[in-house]
Amino acid sequence: MTASPARGRRAAEQLGARTVLIDVTDDASVAAAAQAVEADGGLDVLVNNAGVEARTPDGGLIGAAEVTGEVMRYVFDTNVFGTVRVTHAFLPLLLRSAAPVVVNVSSGLASLTRVSAAGTPAYAYPGVAYPASKAAVNMLTVQFAKALPGMRINAVEPGYTATDLNAHAGTQTVEEGAEIIVRMAQTGPDGPTGGYFDAAGRLPW
Ligand SMILES: NC(=O)c1ccc[n+]([C@@H]2O[C@H](COP(=O)([O-])OP(=O)(O)OC[C@H]3O[C@@H](n4cnc5c(N)ncnc54)[C@H](OP(=O)(O)O)[C@@H]3O)[C@@H](O)[C@H]2O)c1
Repeated sequence: MTASPARGRRAAEQLGARTVLIDVTDDASVAAAAQAVEADGGLDVLVNNAGVEARTPDGGLIGAAEVTGEVMRYVFDTNVFGTVRVTHAFLPLLLRSAAPVVVNVSSGLASLTRVSAAGTPAYAYPGVAYPASKAAVNMLTVQFAKALPGMRINAVEPGYTATDLNAHAGTQTVEEGAEIIVRMAQTGPDGPTGGYFDAAGRLPW
């Protein structure tokens, strides 16, 4: 699913897939996407991947001295409320699947343990809205997983990956970053749920 029709079409062509347009900040768009997927046969795996990170016009991160309610609302609308909007809308479809899976794309910056560990890159990250939103995504993961034991619902940290999000400064390829997302999307009914993983295993909350 994509918010940009042209980019979505290009990606789908490469994969031999079809696109469904979705703006995760818009209830009507999310409802229309759920209807389209239902009409197309249903859903077994939902990957909540849509994410934004607040930056200043010159590309700088917005730290504690500058962050506003508006910035927080913008980031939470996609990363947190979007995850809830989409999961809520697709829940009836997932509940009809024999082996439903949800992967919430979180971040290493969601980890209170990591962000508090002095001397690490996570500790040095000055932004407020993005890590707070991803910590909320981790909490959604835990609460949804407990409430829906028939589904496998996990949060993943792809690692620092060269994408638009970081102006391609990330040190991994998209293929490397996607590996844990794809792996957790294939979790079977006996697999973990309510966890937080990167490529090497479980992460500290
Ligand atoms: N890159 C990293 O180092 C890194 C590290 C940890 C976690 N993550 C997480 O990985 C996920 C993917 O990010 P990325 O690195 O691939 O960044 P990206 O290149 O900026 O891609 C962001 C994605 O979110 C989609 N999106 C944004 N707002 C949306 C909305 N309102 N409705 C629907 N889709 C929306 C975009 O869709 P369109 O392209 O169709 O507009 C795009 O597919 C995010 O959740 C991010 O927080 C990334």
